[in-house]
Amino acid sequence: MTNVRHFLDIDRLDTGTLRHILDRAATIKKNIDAHRSALAGRTLAMIFEKPSTRTRVSFEVGMRQLGGDVVVLKPDDMQLGRGETIGDTARVLSRYVDAVMVRTMGEERVHELAKHASIPIINGLTDQSHPCQIMADLLTFEEHRGPITGKVVAWSGDANNVAVSWIHAAVRFDFEIRVACPEQFGPSPALLEWARNEKRGRVVHVKDPEDAVRNADCVVTDTWVSMNNTDVEERHAGLAPYQVNEQLMSLANSDALFMHCLPAHRGEEVTDGVIDGPHSVVWDEAENRLHAQKAILAWCLGAKI
Ligand code: CP
Ligand code: NVA
Repeated sequence: MTNVRHFLDIDRLDTGTLRHILDRAATIKKNIDAHRSALAGRTLAMIFEKPSTRTRVSFEVGMRQLGGDVVVLKPDDMQLGRGETIGDTARVLSRYVDAVMVRTMGEERVHELAKHASIPIINGLTDQSHPCQIMADLLTFEEHRGPITGKVVAWSGDANNVAVSWIHAAVRFDFEIRVACPEQFGPSPALLEWARNEKRGRVVHVKDPEDAVRNADCVVTDTWVSMNNTDVEERHAGLAPYQVNEQLMSLANSDALFMHCLPAHRGEEVTDGVIDGPHSVVWDEAENRLHAQKAILAWCLGAKI
């Protein structure tokens, strides 16, 4: 089981592997027709314990474009929803399909699946991270601005699952990330310590969004209220000063990109003027989920691209 290629988190993979996947994503994007049978005869199961638009559609379309098939599973339709263990679910799915993508609550659920599966498990978002999204974001940045190594990314808002995967990427791809957020929504001390110990990239936590954004090459934000958050009012109150608006964006480099994983809450974490403005690459980001995930699937399943 140790040789199974799981895609669980960016910090669990080495830079060479991540770079290989990103390069393949760019290759696949350039010539979609060249890889129509790369995963012929292979099936991906997708388990969604939370809603999704982009992840659901891009994985399904991506798998089909590579010649493969998909099965979409919701917990209410599965015995998992009636108490069958994750371990037993992993053992059974391993006999039917070639890989499983899972979107769930705690990351321990993904790790439990991976522990008992004999096929690759792909993390399609947990409360703790969103690695597939950040692979698409890296692809998007590099398409527009070249290598991300040495660049400065500013995050304004809750240090949530998407921010955590950005921090992992800053270390693996050796760039600076400045995370602006109030203390109570900041990155965990354990994550900051991990980043310091890795001695690549630079992760800085600041309180003032202007300090993060000044001269940044890319400005990123996300919803103030993620899918499993219940403290809605506290989040709105605490995160309002972190809105990415035209004034904040004007402090970044003149050619800075604006990114958002979507779905956006216009008028909350981002204004219409920014998300629809000249810096925004959010639609490219959404498209690149497709290409990045095709490369992840190809890597997990050992397809030649
Ligand atoms: N960005 C993202 O993962 O979107 P969905 O929740 O629509 O999949
Ligand atoms: N942080 C958001 C990302 C959605 C794609 C959430 O977890 O709801």
